[in-house]
Amino acid sequence: MSIIIGNWKMYKTRHQAVEFIKALLPLIQNCPNEVWLSVPFTSLQVCVEEAKGKGVKIGAQNMNEASEGAFTGEIAGQMLKEGGAEFVLLGHSERRKIFHETDEMIAAKVGKALEVGITPVLCVGETEEEREGGEEKEVLQRQIFQGFQKAPKDAYVILAYEPVWAIGTGKMATPKLAAEAHVFCRKILTSHFGKNGKSIPILYGGSVKPDTIQALLKENDINGALVGGASLDPKSFAAIANAR
Ligand code: PGA
Repeated sequence: MSIIIGNWKMYKTRHQAVEFIKALLPLIQNCPNEVWLSVPFTSLQVCVEEAKGKGVKIGAQNMNEASEGAFTGEIAGQMLKEGGAEFVLLGHSERRKIFHETDEMIAAKVGKALEVGITPVLCVGETEEEREGGEEKEVLQRQIFQGFQKAPKDAYVILAYEPVWAIGTGKMATPKLAAEAHVFCRKILTSHFGKNGKSIPILYGGSVKPDTIQALLKENDINGALVGGASLDPKSFAAIANAR
């Protein structure tokens, strides 16, 4: 069973979020995979209510690493937990690039998410320049080691490999290139987490579409997908979620 996560980014009002879930549920009744949706903070609670008992996990797209404090505009892990979030995306490349999040900040967030009982989905991936310069392995190793430095060896975590050049560009990594990166990520995970590293799900993200998901899921170490653009429409997201 794979894990398919939709990342809505800064799209959908509460009303649109509820409409989406109502339209999605009948389309994924016999779904062979786990379906998770990462929604804006304001839609968290309505999505949790709408998806209750329907097998769809609802999560957030970011959180602050502090428990509470004078951090105007930020949201704490405990607040997400109370709102019903079961997981949180951390270190997405848009957070790293636009909001200048460092590996150190992301590591603190991962630690905090685990502490409050929310599954962290750590996002890693190289930029186009880094790949052209042959630095992708170095980048992945650094982002994974540092991102998980506060995670206990037996923690339940998820890793998402998202090459930055493939996000929102329509240039999906070929299944072969993605698989190579996943095999490398698996090695790092096992050296960091020991035996547990073998079962940590590694999802691929970056321009995944209904017609490309199947080939990705056929690869050994690709355990699911993190889907941005194609998760905004219930039909295309359901088509991805139903892939085998
Ligand atoms: P995309 O986004 O599917 O639109 O490329 C993926 C992501 O940002 O997680």
